[in-house]
Amino acid sequence: MSVTKGIILAGGAGSRLYPLSKIASKQLMPIYDKPMIYYPLSTIMMAGIREVLIISTPHDLPRFEELLGDGAELGIKISYTVQEHPEGIAQAFILGRDFIDNQPVCLILGDNIFYGKYIFLNPIREFTSGALVYGYYVKDPERYGVVEFDAAGKAISLEEKPKQPKSHYAVPGLYVYDHQVCDLAEAMQPSARGELEITDLNRIYLEKNQLNVQKIGRGVAWLDTGTHQSLLEASHFIGTLEQRQGLKFGCIEEVAWRMNFIDDNQLDDVLQKMPNSPYRTYLADILAEEG
Ligand code: G1P
Repeated sequence: MSVTKGIILAGGAGSRLYPLSKIASKQLMPIYDKPMIYYPLSTIMMAGIREVLIISTPHDLPRFEELLGDGAELGIKISYTVQEHPEGIAQAFILGRDFIDNQPVCLILGDNIFYGKYIFLNPIREFTSGALVYGYYVKDPERYGVVEFDAAGKAISLEEKPKQPKSHYAVPGLYVYDHQVCDLAEAMQPSARGELEITDLNRIYLEKNQLNVQKIGRGVAWLDTGTHQSLLEASHFIGTLEQRQGLKFGCIEEVAWRMNFIDDNQLDDVLQKMPNSPYRTYLADILAEEG
């Protein structure tokens, strides 16, 4: 059974980005030449996902709707749900119950950017049951959910932001769950900080022996965007690659076209509606060259 549904969680106060957070939500901030949410959206589209639910705050949700509409221009379906209060990542599965409709579902956090060879997405396409999360080696695991492996490479523990991490493997904000997820999330208790923790949900699957943890190797960048410095670094990273290759990354219209969600004519229609800009020229050029 392939995963066709994906949730992008784009909530949170983004308080560390104050005063930028006064003008727009974090996931609408520019990363080089595009709004941040373009990157996680293109990641799940590349995993083959065509039904998307975006969850955000009452204040910010209309901006996402304005930006992305119903998804028709990308050959996908986008719907929207409000998260009234930031009560944890796992709340996405309570808010998204109707959307999920007992199907497997992928969740990506709206501030997670992945760059590199996309073979690491293959386990999403091959997903059958249980849960799938990733492990990514970082210098500072204490800032994340941390997964510990035994000598045979099997995941044996998960901890959220541990003071003394048991490994260097952080769990990035990209997860896949089977039909059990809504009921499991509903039965959860909030943590000490009042949130339904995604790490607690993953631990439930781990304890049921139903958690698949895939390590993401070298050559894939998983970028952070929570602070002014990391925003700048992510922009430099994307900008450097785009300048060097003349190819864009996280360009949702291009991804839709390359995934065959839209054809040449549809891509042409979409770009005709764009203002004259390097972004439009880029799409026109790839269509002329490869269409
Ligand atoms: C959240 C999760 C954490 C995960 C991280 C990935 O942390 O709680 O387990 O590693 O996202 O971005 P937050 O960004 O909310 O601090």
